[in-house]
Amino acid sequence: MAWLVLVFLLLIPHLSVAKGLAVAKPDCRAKCGDIDVPFPFGIDPGCFLEGFYLNCSKNATDGTYKLLTGNVEVLEILLPTGQVRMNNHISWQCYRSTTRNIDKDTWYFDFRPTRYRISSLDNKFVTIGCDTLSYNTMVNYKNDIYRTGCVSVCYSRESLTNGTCSGIGCCETPIPPGINYYDASFDKNFNSSSVSDFSACSYAVVMEADNFTFSTSYVTGYDFWETHNGTVPILMDWSIADDTCNVANETSNYACVSHNSVCINMQNGPGYICKCWEGYEGNPYIQDGCQDIDECMKNSPCSGICVNTPGSFNCSCPPRTRGDPYSATGCHSIEKTSRWVKTFVGISVGLMILVILSCLVYFVLERRKIATIKEKYFKQYGGQLLYQEMKSKQGYAFTIFKEEELKEATNNFDAKNILGEGGNGTVYKGTLKNNKDVAIKRCKTIDERQKKEFGKEILILSQINHKNIVRILGCCLEVEIPILVYEFIPKGNLFDLIHSCNAPCISMGTRLRIAQESAEALAYLHSWASPPIVHRDVKSSNILLDENFMAKVSDFGASVLVPTDEDQFMTVVQGTRGYLDPEYMLTGLLTAKSDVYSFGVVLLELLTRKKAFLLDKPEDHMSLSSIFLSSMKENKLEEILDDQILDVESMNLINGVVKLARECLNMEGEKRPEMREVAETLDRLRKTIKHPWVQDNLEEIECLLGEPSNNKELEMTSYHSLEEKAMLAMEAGR
Ligand SMILES: *[C@@H]1O[C@H](CO)[C@@H](O)[C@H](O)[C@H]1NC(C)=O
Ligand SMILES: *[C@@H]1O[C@H](CO)[C@@H](O)[C@H](O)[C@H]1NC(C)=O
Ligand SMILES: *[C@@H]1O[C@H](CO)[C@@H](O)[C@H](O)[C@H]1NC(C)=O
Ligand SMILES: *[C@@H]1O[C@H](CO)[C@@H](O)[C@H](O)[C@H]1NC(C)=O
Ligand SMILES: *[C@@H]1O[C@H](CO)[C@@H](O)[C@H](O)[C@H]1NC(C)=O
Ligand SMILES: *[C@@H]1O[C@H](CO)[C@@H](O)[C@H](O)[C@H]1NC(C)=O
Ligand SMILES: *[C@@H]1O[C@H](CO)[C@@H](O)[C@H](O)[C@H]1NC(C)=O
Ligand SMILES: *[C@@H]1O[C@H](CO)[C@@H](O)[C@H](O)[C@H]1NC(C)=O
Repeated sequence: MAWLVLVFLLLIPHLSVAKGLAVAKPDCRAKCGDIDVPFPFGIDPGCFLEGFYLNCSKNATDGTYKLLTGNVEVLEILLPTGQVRMNNHISWQCYRSTTRNIDKDTWYFDFRPTRYRISSLDNKFVTIGCDTLSYNTMVNYKNDIYRTGCVSVCYSRESLTNGTCSGIGCCETPIPPGINYYDASFDKNFNSSSVSDFSACSYAVVMEADNFTFSTSYVTGYDFWETHNGTVPILMDWSIADDTCNVANETSNYACVSHNSVCINMQNGPGYICKCWEGYEGNPYIQDGCQDIDECMKNSPCSGICVNTPGSFNCSCPPRTRGDPYSATGCHSIEKTSRWVKTFVGISVGLMILVILSCLVYFVLERRKIATIKEKYFKQYGGQLLYQEMKSKQGYAFTIFKEEELKEATNNFDAKNILGEGGNGTVYKGTLKNNKDVAIKRCKTIDERQKKEFGKEILILSQINHKNIVRILGCCLEVEIPILVYEFIPKGNLFDLIHSCNAPCISMGTRLRIAQESAEALAYLHSWASPPIVHRDVKSSNILLDENFMAKVSDFGASVLVPTDEDQFMTVVQGTRGYLDPEYMLTGLLTAKSDVYSFGVVLLELLTRKKAFLLDKPEDHMSLSSIFLSSMKENKLEEILDDQILDVESMNLINGVVKLARECLNMEGEKRPEMREVAETLDRLRKTIKHPWVQDNLEEIECLLGEPSNNKELEMTSYHSLEEKAMLAMEAGR
């Protein structure tokens, strides 16, 4: 339906244009044969303006029509340019070589006095011939007479050129404006007698310039005349009245009666013609003769949508297109471009999503990988066992830490938090979420056997609960080498106490107490579990001091459990120079007695305040134990003992400890005392202490450790036995 309406709408302007082209007055013949006869021309009475009558006669013999003005045939009426094309007769003369006569027929062309004038711009006077002088006598509308001549000469066929009319076989002269009469004639003195072998005739005519192109055959033959039976077209200008537009438009018979028409003064003499405005067409000489041209109907000048407007048109691009609708490149679809944009955007978005997805997948996989690795380690170190154990025993104070927790606690294992670095690992101070301080030990290596047994060992170690042993609070198994978490012991270690504190302040009592407490701890380790737990790295720096200066044996990183079926166990020799059991070093067989030897060295340290291993001494005096043994042999023991403890009162005590140390340092492990015996001996020796200055002197130690500001309460609670407290009170009272 809409389609039909559209077609109808498109048809309407077409119809109106057809109507606008109705060029004749109503009830007038508009055609003569095939030729349109528009007003102001007319065939019938009352159908033409004065001067524009045309005779349309029918040839009764062949039924053809001829349109005549006077005796000149009219071929076409051109309304917009104000012209008429007529049929003009060619004047000719021919030299008959047989009779030596000259035949000729010359015409004159007379439009005086009419509205017609020969169009000066569109016509020319053409002369053709090989020995010819023609004359053209002309008269204009003012009766001025003009005469022009034209000579055309040639001596051979070969000198003639097609298309060139410049004196050889052909010549032409222009027509002045305003001419309405001409008469062509030939000079008597020129005839073709001398060139009659190839050219006989000459022609002269005023004709439409565009219609003429010289051909050599016009000279050598009769083509020029024969083509149109001795006629050629001529264009005549015509005009309405003799007034100019200015004058005419004031008169009652002003010819430009149509709307949208304009008056134009004639160039070729007086008078005017009418024209439709630009964008209009039709007949300006009749009412409503000028009709809007529907530019969109013909070859549409738009590449988009064409909308006809009165006298013009508008081009626009169809919906969803853009561009220049007036140009040939025209409108292009936005959709097309937007489809490109969409495709582009789509691809980009797709790619982005892909990238994000792959990143996500990567991260998930990476996390899973890490989780798998963590799980692998966790399983490898027997985490499962530990976990089940923890579940089964209520109130079992052992935690399996996550790696993140420990990282957080140590500020990602910041070097600032390092408490100490040893051969087998680094100890960091850490603060857990509940503000509890802990010591976190990261071992450097772990051997294969330890790996398999780790969970089991940790399980055993975690159950050790002795006041002189640093407690293991937990561990982290999801790392390559497990991290151990111990309780934090605030007052440093025995090594620092006796070697870096240079004040004369550690009494024999204190030394004995620390020795005894350490021995208790080791004895506990040796006897608590079966197989015995061998510390492997007993040394003064592994004996820590808590806030009450109570000794706490630490560092189970190197501990191994000795299997039940063997008393001794082959391991890689491990330990610290100066403390190492020579027998263990020799055989690689580790027993609880190795700890006894190391403890003997600690006793020596306490007695001498010398380091277990002295790099600046000759080789045989590098280790404290060899110095000790040789001084004993030479009976110069007093030289190496610490001056602080050397007095008559404590000599018995010292001798007791020396004897004990000697036993511990026995080369044969078998002959060394058990740790339990060592502890008991030390306990016995402590009980023999009589003199107060031999006793524990903790407050002095405290000041030496650089914490003098600690309150009295701490000082008081520093004493860990009532007995000692009482002694001190007595001393203070004195
Ligand atoms: C029209 O032309 C024909 C033939 O030339 C002639 O016989 C006739 O008389 C002419 N009619 C008028 C009205 O001039
Ligand atoms: C009519 O046509 C015939 C044949 O074309 C021609 O011989 C004759 O001269 C014509 N008559 C007029 C009056 O032109
Ligand atoms: C043709 O021209 C020549 C020379 O121009 C002249 O002698 C001769 O008489 C002329 N012939 C005729 C028939 O006029
Ligand atoms: C000359 O005019 C005639 C008649 O109008 C036409 O048939 C012919 O094609 C024209 N020739 C040229 C070259 O314009
Ligand atoms: C000129 O053109 C005509 C036909 O168009 C031809 O017969 C003639 O041979 C041409 N002349 C030359 C010199 O080319
Ligand atoms: C020229 O006139 C003759 C006789 O009147 C006619 O047979 C021929 O067809 C006409 N030729 C042209 C081109 O009009
Ligand atoms: C006639 O034309 C002149 C100049 O073009 C103009 O000034 C004048 O108004 C016109 N008169 C009429 C009646 O159109
Ligand atoms: C034609 O287009 C111009 C600008 O594109 C606009 O200003 C004008 O109103 C339009 N005319 C019509 C009749 O659509």
